[in-house]
Amino acid sequence: MSTVPIQPGQQTADYNFKVVRQFALMAVVWGVVGMGMGLFIASQMVFPALNFDLPWTSFGRLRPLHTNAVIFAFGGCVLMATSFYVVQRTCQTKLAFPKLASFTFWGWQLVILLAAITLPMGYTTSKEYAELEWPISILIAIVWIAYAIVFFATIKRRNVKHIYVANWFYGAFIITIGVLHIVNNMAIPVSLTKSYSMYSGATDAMIQWWYGHNAVGFFLTAGFLGIMYYFVPKQADRPVYSYRLSIVHFWALIAIYIWAGPHHLHYTALPDWAQSLGMVMSLILLAPSWGGMINGIMTLSGAWHKLRTDPILRFLVVSLSFYGMSTFEGPMMAIKTVNAMSHYTDWTIGHVHSGALGWVAMVSFGALYHLIPRVHGLKDMYSTRLINAHFWLATIGTVLYIVAMWVNGIIQGLMWRAVNDDGTLTHSFVETVSASHFGYIVRAIGGAFFVAGMVVMAYNVYRTRRQAKINTEAFAPSAAV
Ligand code: HEM
Ligand code: HEM
Repeated sequence: MSTVPIQPGQQTADYNFKVVRQFALMAVVWGVVGMGMGLFIASQMVFPALNFDLPWTSFGRLRPLHTNAVIFAFGGCVLMATSFYVVQRTCQTKLAFPKLASFTFWGWQLVILLAAITLPMGYTTSKEYAELEWPISILIAIVWIAYAIVFFATIKRRNVKHIYVANWFYGAFIITIGVLHIVNNMAIPVSLTKSYSMYSGATDAMIQWWYGHNAVGFFLTAGFLGIMYYFVPKQADRPVYSYRLSIVHFWALIAIYIWAGPHHLHYTALPDWAQSLGMVMSLILLAPSWGGMINGIMTLSGAWHKLRTDPILRFLVVSLSFYGMSTFEGPMMAIKTVNAMSHYTDWTIGHVHSGALGWVAMVSFGALYHLIPRVHGLKDMYSTRLINAHFWLATIGTVLYIVAMWVNGIIQGLMWRAVNDDGTLTHSFVETVSASHFGYIVRAIGGAFFVAGMVVMAYNVYRTRRQAKINTEAFAPSAAV
């Protein structure tokens, strides 16, 4: 348990870490809430009575609350905290426009609060990952533009010639998400709480999944790769394995991701050529994804022994392994004949969470454990043993979750397609639901492990912040008297 201050005040004086501290704290809070909500809806699949026969607490309304809370509240706060930290450190300058940065923080929290109120009430555009109604969408656009201004103005003010590759990834994420959000949310309002998309039919579907897939590609991937390129070398205390590969990785990834959306619309009214294009681009996407993963993992060359004692590094390395796994699985699922079996089944849910828990959440934990003590003027978190406990809870939880969903997915896919000699279906739908029940129990247990780890993290962060407060008071001018 070491919470030694690093020359009190000095570390934090040259940078604006206030907004980083705020975002990091809220990332942990929303992590507990969002993943807790995930556990609750997973439990509803085991015990349907937990829907309480009320519309506000039904699975259909709480599911988008979970996805919004984990992706935009937890993931968004992690991305904003780390990008504001990394851009200052690598550009060796203070954050531009501190008031606008503060507005970004409070504006984003307001968006989350409005989502938490409107989604259970049933106000939704019904577009997945873009459910929030038009007044909130406009607020998101405004906050996002403020975020972009602060980030890019800080880069402009940099005191070093070079723009470090992590900032390229953050920059691409910020620009692309802004464009995707604005284009996909173009709608005609009919009241304060209801609007209709400006697009219709297959065009609407294509724009929605151009958005949806690139939300994965740029929110859940490019932004988190920015995290990887800064925090893995820092924590391992090694340079990036290949800077040249990181540049090739960047351009290849952003050039290819944008075309892969149609793999969400196989065997639909979308023109066949567009589906095939999405499939081919998804297969090509394997190469840059693995290039990035290899670059991250090889950064540990000469530092592998540190894994024995450093649970933060373990989080980062395991996250890269899951990134590699989910970006291998994704292209396979994009093949039309494979998708014919995996689509609509729990296999997709398993794929989502091997990316979301294994990659996104784990790399976030590693980065937050590295960053939180530093922005509070401390050398380490309150307890390394608790980080270790979190690591094992998260790893066991992820494995239980995804294995259960893969098994369920294959069972469902095979049972749905089984036909008798006379052409009738072998299994009724309810038989497949009952065959999936055991998997849902295992998933809920895995989720409980994962949430328990998140609670351990929240306690560790609370104790670390308390220690920082005690140190600040001890070093305050009045205390010196
Ligand atoms: C304790 C951890 C978690 C649990 C127990 C959990 C549970 C669930 C459940 C039960 C669903 C609904 C699946 C269905 O409709 O059949 C779901 C969906 C989803 N979750 Fe999680 N989740 C967790 C963490 C996360 C995290 C950290 C993320 C993202 C960073 C995430 C992203 C998603 C997404 C994107 C979906 C929608 C998937 C789709 O539509 O295909 N979840 N989750
Ligand atoms: C090379 C990279 C990847 C490819 C080609 C890919 C491909 C796919 C495919 C084919 C599907 C199933 C579509 C369907 O049948 O409806 C899918 C679903 C999904 N993937 Fe990936 N994936 C990749 C990486 C990732 C990663 C790293 C994450 C998370 C961090 C992720 C998150 C998701 C989500 C959230 C969905 C569910 C979307 C929905 O229906 O709601 N993917 N992906």
